[in-house]
Amino acid sequence: MEQTKRHSFSGSIGFVLAAAGSAVGLGNIWRFPYLAAKDGGGTFLILYIILALTFGFTLLITEVAIGRKTKQSPLTAYGKLHSKWKGLGIFACLVPAIILPYYCAIGGWVVKYLVMYTTGQGGATTADGYFTSFISGKGEPVFMLVIFLLAVSFVVYKGVNKGIERMSRILMPILLVLIVVIAVFSLTISHTDDGGVTRDGLEGLKIYLIPDFTGMTLERFISILMDAMGQLFFSLSVAMGIMIAYGSYVHDDADLKTSINQIEIFDTTVALLAGVMIIPAVFTFAGTEGMSASGPGLMFVTLPKVFNAMGAVGPFVGIAFFAMVLFAALTSAVSIMEAVVSSFMDRFGQSRKKAVLIVTGITLIVGILVCLGYNLLYFEAALPNGTTAQLLDILDYFSNNLLMPIVAIGTCILIGWVLKPKTVIEEVEKTGCKMGRKLLYRVMIQYIAPVMLVLILLKSTGIL
Ligand code: ALA
Repeated sequence: MEQTKRHSFSGSIGFVLAAAGSAVGLGNIWRFPYLAAKDGGGTFLILYIILALTFGFTLLITEVAIGRKTKQSPLTAYGKLHSKWKGLGIFACLVPAIILPYYCAIGGWVVKYLVMYTTGQGGATTADGYFTSFISGKGEPVFMLVIFLLAVSFVVYKGVNKGIERMSRILMPILLVLIVVIAVFSLTISHTDDGGVTRDGLEGLKIYLIPDFTGMTLERFISILMDAMGQLFFSLSVAMGIMIAYGSYVHDDADLKTSINQIEIFDTTVALLAGVMIIPAVFTFAGTEGMSASGPGLMFVTLPKVFNAMGAVGPFVGIAFFAMVLFAALTSAVSIMEAVVSSFMDRFGQSRKKAVLIVTGITLIVGILVCLGYNLLYFEAALPNGTTAQLLDILDYFSNNLLMPIVAIGTCILIGWVLKPKTVIEEVEKTGCKMGRKLLYRVMIQYIAPVMLVLILLKSTGIL
C-alpha cells in the first residue's frame, strides 16, 4: 500500500548526513580499531579501503537505488521490483527488527557510562568487575534501555525531515569534531608503566598505519580479507533494510552517485579516525596486550582504564568519548528503527505514530529480555562459529552472520541476474549524471559480490 504523502529528505546533504549517521555506529568504534590492530594494521586498512570502493560501493548504491526507484520500505520494495521476490523483503525487514532491541540495550549501557563520567564518577567504572556487575543488574540496564529507546522512538516519530534529518544535521558535525579532537589528543600522550617502559601515541599510530606482513600466509591474508569484508558490511548499514528505507526518501532529481561517494568517505574516515583515537591510547597505557579487546570489553572495560591512567584530563576525555559514542549509536539506532517503522507503514498502511508505538513496544519487550539475559535468563550457548553466547550474542549472530549475508546474496541475484544491473544504473543515471565505475558495478553485482557474500556466510556459520 503506497503512502500518499511520503516523507523525504530536504536535499542531498540531509540524506548524506542521515545515511552517514546510520553507517557510523558502534561497529566503527569498537570493532574496526580492534580488527585493524589484530590484522596487521596497514594491511587491513588498505584492504578495507579497496573493498569499500568496490564491494561496499556496489551494495550501497544498489540498496539506495532500490529504495528510490520503488519508493518503498525494505519489506515492500522487493515485491514491487518483482512479485516473486516478496519473500526477500521479509528477511530484509527482519534484520533491523532483530538488531534494534540489542542495539538499544547497548545504547543504554553507553547512556550509563556517559552519566557516570558527567557526574564525576568515571573512576568508579574502572573497578574490577564493574561492567559485569552493571549489566547483570536487574533494574538499571532496563532503565537505561528505556531512556535510549524513548529517545530513538521520539526522533523516528518526528519523521524523516523533522526528526531523522534534523538530528543528523546537529549530531554528525559534533561527532566529527569530538572524534578529531580525541584522535589528535591520543597522538600526543605518553606514559611510563610500572616496569619503567615508556610508550607514546605516535608509536601506537605506527602500529596502526604501517602494514605488518610478518607471518603473512595465504591463509592469513584470506582471514584478514574476510574480517575486512564482514566489518564493511555491518559498518555501511547494508543488508539491514536501512539504505532501502533512506533511499525511498531521496528526491528523484538528487545525484545518487555523489551522495554514495560522500557516505562512503564519511563512514570510512570515521572508522579510520576511530582507530587513530583508540589504538595509540590503548597502546600507550595498556601495551599491545591491551589491544586484544574488542566490543564491550574494549569500550566499557579497557578504555575507562585508559582514561583513568590519563590523570586529570582523563574524565574530560571520557565525557567526550562517551558523548561521541552516544551520538553514533543514536543516529544508527534511529535508522534501524526507521527501516522497521517504514515497513509497517508501507505494508499495513499504518500511520507513523501507530507504527512507532508498535515497534517501540516490541523492541522494549525483546530489549528487556536481552538485559535479563545477563541475570534471570542467563545461559551459555555455543554458536557454530565457536563463540559462547548469551541472548544478545544470539540475536547478533542470527542477524549479522546469517540473515544479512542471505539478504545481500538475494539482492545481488535479483539485481544482477533477474532484473539485470541496468535497473540500478538507469535509476542512478536518470538525473543525467554518469554513474562511473559501471563495468566494475556489473562485474561486482553479478559475480564477485555474491561469491564474497557466500564466503562470508560460510565463514560465519563455521562451515569454512
Ligand atoms: N552501521 C552501524 C554500525 O556500525 C549499524 O554500528
